[in-house]
Amino acid sequence: MAVRGVLKMGNPLLLQVAEPVTEFNSAELDRLIGDMFDTMAAEAGAGLAAPQIGVSRRVVIFGVEKNPRYPEVEEVPSTVLINPVITLIDSEQEEGWEGCLSVPGLRGRVARYARVRYTGYDQRGDRVEREVSGFHARVVQHECDHLDGILYPRRIRDLRLFGFEEDLDAPGGLRGD
Ligand code: NI
Repeated sequence: MAVRGVLKMGNPLLLQVAEPVTEFNSAELDRLIGDMFDTMAAEAGAGLAAPQIGVSRRVVIFGVEKNPRYPEVEEVPSTVLINPVITLIDSEQEEGWEGCLSVPGLRGRVARYARVRYTGYDQRGDRVEREVSGFHARVVQHECDHLDGILYPRRIRDLRLFGFEEDLDAPGGLRGD
């Protein structure tokens, strides 16, 4: 497997609607997912969508391990989700800061549904179905947006809450203490 280059905002491939996967259990799909995990690990991301490495297929991966140094970060199980469908459990939304490997160095405040159900398939073609909330729900909504050509800056309602991480987190910054 290999670390692949991540496309950056401005690349038109990130604006395409990705095609569904039609063949599971294939060497090609396994290679794609292996490369996606290697790339996500190398970039220390929480998730990655296939279009971000230039593959216009409806495949996302995500996962966050529990880290004792960052107790406030919620654990998200390592997940492969293919041809995903998200349905709302209710209409409540939550605001939160997001970043994206395709938009390096920046963070923005985005409202996402607080609770969603998602379904899809893993690389073997086995069905995945979960009801999630909080950060897990945020990550899956962010990653699935990539499959429809949507990057999170389009979801920011107040562009004052969009900026460089370094400055947002500085003392007195919008995210600083
Ligand atoms: Ni992203």
